[in-house]
Amino acid sequence: MNNFKLTVAKDMLSCLAEISSDINLTVDDILAMFEYPPDSSLGDIAFPCFKLSRILRKAPPMIAKEISEKFKSSVVSKVEAVNGYLNIFVTNEYLINNVLYEIENKKEKYGSDGSGIGKVAVFDYSSPNVAKPFHIGHLGTTVIGHSLKMLHEFQGYDCVGINYLGDWGTQFGKLIVAYDTWGSQEKVENGGVDELVALYVKFHQEAEKDEELNQLARNEFTKLESHDERNIKLWKWFVDISLKEYQKTYKQLGIEFDSYKGESFYTDKMPAQIEKLRNSGLMKIDDGASIVDLSEYNMPPCLILKRDGSTLYPTRDIAAAVYRKEAYNFDKCIYVTSAGQSLHFAQWFKVVELMGYDWYDKLVHVPYGTVSINGEKLATRTGNVILLKDLFATAIEKVSEIIEEKNPNLPNKEEVSEAVGVGSVVFYYLYNNRIKDINFIMEDALSFDGNTGPYAQYTYARCCGILEKASGLNVNTDPVITSSEEADLLKVLSKFNEAVKDAIKEYEPSVITRYIIDVCSSFNKFYHNCQIVNAEDESVRNTRIRLTNAVKTVLGSAFGLICMKKTEKI
Ligand code: ARG
Repeated sequence: MNNFKLTVAKDMLSCLAEISSDINLTVDDILAMFEYPPDSSLGDIAFPCFKLSRILRKAPPMIAKEISEKFKSSVVSKVEAVNGYLNIFVTNEYLINNVLYEIENKKEKYGSDGSGIGKVAVFDYSSPNVAKPFHIGHLGTTVIGHSLKMLHEFQGYDCVGINYLGDWGTQFGKLIVAYDTWGSQEKVENGGVDELVALYVKFHQEAEKDEELNQLARNEFTKLESHDERNIKLWKWFVDISLKEYQKTYKQLGIEFDSYKGESFYTDKMPAQIEKLRNSGLMKIDDGASIVDLSEYNMPPCLILKRDGSTLYPTRDIAAAVYRKEAYNFDKCIYVTSAGQSLHFAQWFKVVELMGYDWYDKLVHVPYGTVSINGEKLATRTGNVILLKDLFATAIEKVSEIIEEKNPNLPNKEEVSEAVGVGSVVFYYLYNNRIKDINFIMEDALSFDGNTGPYAQYTYARCCGILEKASGLNVNTDPVITSSEEADLLKVLSKFNEAVKDAIKEYEPSVITRYIIDVCSSFNKFYHNCQIVNAEDESVRNTRIRLTNAVKTVLGSAFGLICMKKTEKI
């Protein structure tokens, strides 16, 4: 609808000039005034006349009426003055020329306006902590992060996806002690990450009874920090095992990272920033620790060094941001984490600003709410957590049961079960406003007739099925719109770019999941009320087949924006 609105706004400007020379609006003002009526039978866009009432000293309904009599536009089929609004209807020719043809021409680029071309966006997301479980709390950062990356890429940004692995810290001291005390090479080789997590959990249980274990762990970490050969070897091994396993989950989601530079990478990048902080006088000693006082900004101090001189989470993030600015010269650097870390980001962003880095305002924190499953919150450390891979595995298994029951002869059953199972989890999660806490209910996620991933994928497969039936037909007659379902469908498709822009502006992938549902409902209404391949009139049939193809194109692009795979058959 973007271009439609723009054309109408220009025509509206000429019309208003004709009505009165006192009206000093610009095209942008008018664009900002347009609204979408609650129901498309009331019009495709509405122009409220309340603001004009003061300037023209007339009642809004009278103004609306006057405009309705004078307004002319080649893209508008009719206008109606209702209660102080001017309701504006788009022509079918516009829908064909500017929506259907445009989708057919631009294909998978349709919906992108290229506004990111020439800009660089960095995404810091997923970033699990090695040896700690990759649990459902990471679902948010992983799928929101990747969706935001895909959205930016779609708009033409040069994107860098970074997995800032938690691959350094005292947990490795604990893990080494646990491995030496209760573990074995064989068990770790066979058990992988699960065994590492079990060792880590065991360490915490035992350390509660035996405080000395903590000292041993600190010693092992100190040895690691000073590059003790054996500890470095063990550390690398632990990281490798974990990474291999994470990559299985990423593969299911279709995620690839451009960089796995984790926390360990920044160890030698910190001293320069600490030095800069010290020289600038920003850093103060407080009870032995080094801090940056942020009381002026209503925040607790940002901790830079502990009393023993060791670095902290913010120290590393500051060094990493400086490194990334130099390495990528980003226009935006986006961090996706749980809302629990919001203060951390606000604090160190402020420190970066105080340090005089003029790109501080290009750092963006995107927080999200908590996840519980069937009402249960997660508890880390105790080992009582739901792993992301298990959540996906359960969904995949349930989908394969459904397929076994309903469509046992489906080709590529395994692939489809994975796409639909994983897609259902992702879609259900991303359907919510990211900041809201969500309670995950598997049955709801897997339902084929709610606003769900399976419903969307089913609709996509339905398009593919229709197109398969129509293959071989020559559909290149002049398109005609003969029903409101067809027109409504094109109107929904015309809003794709707006959805993309809103999703980026708000850092909110749920705009896309909701848009997908709008497209699916509109398509299914069309499908149920209109004959497609069997339509009697040839040009009607051809138009409908092309419409189906346009829906397939837009849905396919939109799925890609939210890490959901598409499947041609279910
Ligand atoms: N590894 C951290 C965690 O699991 C998340 C890292 C987020 N990114 C960052 N640059 N701090 O909590």
